[in-house]
Amino acid sequence: MTKNAHKNMLYTGDCLYVMNGINSDSIDLIYLDPPFNSKRMYEAPVGSKAAGISFNDMWTWKDVDTEYLDQLIEEYPFMVQFIQTVGIIHGDGMKAYLTYMAQRIVVMKRILKPTGSFYLHCDPTASHYLKIICDRMFGKNNFKSEIIWKRSNPKNDSKGLGNNNDRILWYVMSKKYTWNKQYGPYEDAYIKKSYRYKDTDGRLFRPGPLDAKSLAGGGYEYEWNGRYHLWRLPKHKMQQLHDAKGIYYSSKGLANRKLYLDEAKGVPLQAIWNDIAYVKGNEDLGYPTQKPLALMHRIIKASSNEGDVVLDPFCGGATTCVAAQQLNRTSLGIDISEKSPRFLIERLQEDGGLLNNFGHTSQYPKRTDIKTEKKSKNVKETLFKEQKGKCKGCNEDFGIKNFEIDHIIPRDKNGPDCIENYQLLCGHCNRVKGNRPMAFLTMRINRINDDMNFKVSFDSGFE
Ligand SMILES: C[S@@+](CC[C@H](N)C(=O)[O-])C[C@H]1O[C@@H](n2cnc3c(N)ncnc32)[C@H](O)[C@@H]1O
Ligand SMILES: [Zn+2]
Repeated sequence: MTKNAHKNMLYTGDCLYVMNGINSDSIDLIYLDPPFNSKRMYEAPVGSKAAGISFNDMWTWKDVDTEYLDQLIEEYPFMVQFIQTVGIIHGDGMKAYLTYMAQRIVVMKRILKPTGSFYLHCDPTASHYLKIICDRMFGKNNFKSEIIWKRSNPKNDSKGLGNNNDRILWYVMSKKYTWNKQYGPYEDAYIKKSYRYKDTDGRLFRPGPLDAKSLAGGGYEYEWNGRYHLWRLPKHKMQQLHDAKGIYYSSKGLANRKLYLDEAKGVPLQAIWNDIAYVKGNEDLGYPTQKPLALMHRIIKASSNEGDVVLDPFCGGATTCVAAQQLNRTSLGIDISEKSPRFLIERLQEDGGLLNNFGHTSQYPKRTDIKTEKKSKNVKETLFKEQKGKCKGCNEDFGIKNFEIDHIIPRDKNGPDCIENYQLLCGHCNRVKGNRPMAFLTMRINRINDDMNFKVSFDSGFE
């Protein structure tokens, strides 16, 4: 197992603020199953283990962390424009939802290792918009697959097609991504057609060639069972296989290897997954939209190795955390719901003592990969030089004494104490901005000087 700096942990809080305290390049795999913008409230059924747990999937601009908008506007202006355009078509709910997601995906990208993978679970409500956001953030060439997961049995929709599939968008950070090839089960029709033979012990098999005529590299020439051929195995190995009853002789006496169904790897995994059923029976704990462990096992096995760090920033009923621990990965889970931990702890307790190795906190972690610096005279002088003596808000020249050091992302949203997160504002601009983003301040300034254009019109959101 490789060493990593993380230990199994569940954080209660908004994943944006928690992830803001996680070091860059430190996570191997992120799977997220956030709300899908389904415009409803999810509640666990009364009487289920998760009773009392609920989460909201209705979006307004109030859900958007305006303090984090600046980063998005500065780094991804065209994506912001794209989200605004979608907002025109779909309304403010979708705009707020996509902005909320984009703000978090930016941070996920920062904390993933270059070998890492990102799996975003969503559904056709917004999957096509989320894909464009991810194409932009991860790079369109790092898109690997849109997995279609058949989530339920056929639905009887009297006025249309039963929408019973979810989407999982898979992106990688670079060409060096971790990948362990996975196999799915054969279709019944294929088994029926190919595995037509039954051994004395009832095991199904199909005959595989032992003669080497289709092989370019030659073989071993000798007579076996009255047939003179080029064979794939030397004669003594052929004898061993025969003695082990591993050879099937056709009616004409040709030797074939018995390839057993129960030893077959299966079909290399395709992008349509219809072999994993929705949670049922004992596994169903009633957590709203709980996902099956089998789904998580598949993703974790495919895109991480033992000892790797798996993060689920919207972990809900902790399916990912449990699956990751079962597979000897380090698991980090984050959920905003204060009721989740009780439920999660019970689940881990039941699961073979996994809890012993698990921490829970509502404190935000702090990055250790950046140089923290308290607000000081030196910091002020450095910023003063960088900003050429101008206020970041009104762009006016001031003497150094008139400047105040401002946290770009406020401390209560886990904004770090480091020079990258500081800027100088004149006293007036700092007062107007308060704990809000720069975009708010710019908008205020532009309203006063109405000859200036406020280019990034997130303004309706600030009303
Ligand atoms: C669809 S559920 C996840 C279900 C989970 N995959 C499972 O198998 O149980 C989405 C979860 O996201 C959480 N959530 C919503 N906004 C969040 C945020 N900003 N940060 C962390 N968790 C959040 C909700 O409380 C909810 O538990
Ligand atoms: Zn100013």
